Amino acid sequence: MDQQVRERAGSLNVTRLSEPAGAEVVGIDLSLQLGTKKRDILFEALLKHHVLVIRDQDLTPDQQMTLTAMFGKPESHVFHDAEGQSGPQVHVVNNLDKQGNPSSRPTTFGSFFWHTDKSYHEVPSLATFLHARELPPGGGGDTEFANMYNAYESLDDAVKKQIANLRAVHSWEANRRNTGNRAATEEEKKLRPPVSHPLVRTHPDTKRKALYIGIHADCIEGLEREQGIELLKKLYRHSTERKNVYAHSWKPGDLVIWDNRCLLHRVVGNYDMDTHRRILHRSVVIGTKPC
Ligand SMILES: [Fe+2]
Repeated sequence: MDQQVRERAGSLNVTRLSEPAGAEVVGIDLSLQLGTKKRDILFEALLKHHVLVIRDQDLTPDQQMTLTAMFGKPESHVFHDAEGQSGPQVHVVNNLDKQGNPSSRPTTFGSFFWHTDKSYHEVPSLATFLHARELPPGGGGDTEFANMYNAYESLDDAVKKQIANLRAVHSWEANRRNTGNRAATEEEKKLRPPVSHPLVRTHPDTKRKALYIGIHADCIEGLEREQGIELLKKLYRHSTERKNVYAHSWKPGDLVIWDNRCLLHRVVGNYDMDTHRRILHRSVVIGTKPC
């Protein structure tokens, strides 16, 4: 941006980071109990900027979960500890292989493709919280965000009309197929059956329309498979043009919160993944059924 836009939101300083999305937030310590007033201020800022980059945090997993729960119901990454206790917990995102070494072929790599979190669920994610714990020393491992309000609003009227009532089928199986991961097992397919969501959803809080697509979707109800794939590819290309993308360069201590209902995102392997560790803690709040 030519000119950074700064504003005060309560006691917080919020600075817009790019035209498509993103705002830096300073002046808050999230390890302390967040009151509802500050929670509301942050949520309003999230609706306005879609991605919040909250600097200089140092949260334990429990503190991150406490923060996450302030914004809704956490997704259940159910874990069982040595005592057999279970509960929602942060999920560790890393670039490690099965031996625990940094790798350009880590155990999962679906996040390198444009997606919106858990769109293969009937009720997908509202927001994701990602906290940097260990970053490559020279930078890199950026997370990119595409603004799907802009993507929808900048479509030709003819395309808007064409897709107005179409629904894409999202599935775990498609995720596995499209990202080159191992194929979904029969058990996984049963546990996570395909779901369909409208191609155009109305954001439940802002009431704005946004395209809702991603790597978890690879066919469209009522269209021949190839025809659906072609349409989705066209929409991906349009949505992820560089002018519509905020690329976040991580700094130590960053906690990034984003709104999955109006963004696609992906991680970029722009660092020496075979040498350096990149470890982040992720937690997620469940949203509502897209409509
Ligand atoms: Fe993701």
